[in-house]
Amino acid sequence: MDFTSLLLKWYRKNQRNFPWKEYKDPYSIWVSEVILQQTRVQQGESYFRKFIRNYPTVRHLAEAPEDDVLKLWQGLGYYSRARNMHKTAKRIMEEYRGKFPADIGQLRKLDGIGPYTAAAIASFAFGMPVAALDGNAYRILARFFGIDIPVETIGAKKIFEHLAGTLLPRDDSASFNQAMMDFGSLVCTPRPVCASCPMTSVCYAFLKGLTDKLPVKQVKPESRDRYFNYLDIIGLGNNTFIRQRTGKDIWKGLYEFPLIETVTVTSFEELIQVGDFRQLIGPGSFTLLNTIKLQPHKLTHQTIYPVFYRLRLQTPGLVLQQDYQVIDRQDLNRFAVSRLTEKYLRL
Ligand code: ADE
Repeated sequence: MDFTSLLLKWYRKNQRNFPWKEYKDPYSIWVSEVILQQTRVQQGESYFRKFIRNYPTVRHLAEAPEDDVLKLWQGLGYYSRARNMHKTAKRIMEEYRGKFPADIGQLRKLDGIGPYTAAAIASFAFGMPVAALDGNAYRILARFFGIDIPVETIGAKKIFEHLAGTLLPRDDSASFNQAMMDFGSLVCTPRPVCASCPMTSVCYAFLKGLTDKLPVKQVKPESRDRYFNYLDIIGLGNNTFIRQRTGKDIWKGLYEFPLIETVTVTSFEELIQVGDFRQLIGPGSFTLLNTIKLQPHKLTHQTIYPVFYRLRLQTPGLVLQQDYQVIDRQDLNRFAVSRLTEKYLRL
């Protein structure tokens, strides 16, 4: 039997049930795919339900305040995805009268919709004969057909796309695409479960003993180290200070405590000598209540080394630089924060 027949036969018996498989409209498919690019399916299920419950249509999402969308996204990380979703929902309302375009080229032009997501929407929602190739698909194809080009290169993508195009059943691309995802998640996993694979007798990697060598990965770019010193200031009453992040950096739009970034590990004694610190606190006096060092926080291309200093302010009426908001500590949970800050707040 050929690859596609074996795959579809396996899928009929072993497919997983997920809430998004019950939806055929492009909006729900899109929401599920964006969430699933960010997390594993188990956690993705609850976020998907939450999103669809709060924003059942693209109009609901478009009309929601950005802060609410970010709040709902909280915990998934990589907030630019949530912001792009919101932006795209608005564009769909304004430019496409609330209907997703049934056209890969036009889908691709929307913020946050890359080749994979565009293909997934085209296939799952519109039944178009296109392959939606994610990491699962590259892994399966690289092993089965013995393709040893690093999968992240543009050249490799072309080859995989062409190959997948020849394998895809024209009348049911959705089953093929979904089958690849499920098969890649259950059987042809990074450490494959070849004992339960129906394709071993025709799989290149299995037959040659190369399942741990394929697919070929590119060397990862280096990760940058950053040192974040947060000041959790307990002000008069039960106040604290927060600020919304702006600019071209991580966590844009999210809220956080006053931050002093340093180039290396810095003790509190050293930190209070730093110009930024004095600028922030001004002539105010404070006592250090607690120093909380959290585990290094890994992001895609950087590792954050976080320390949170709890300070009690002893100068009444002190105001930090204007872009800080003074809020009641009890209201902290109303603001969308990074996963790192969330971790700290949960302590
Ligand atoms: N990962 C990404 N999209 C998925 C889907 N539709 N089903 C299962 N896993 C996925």
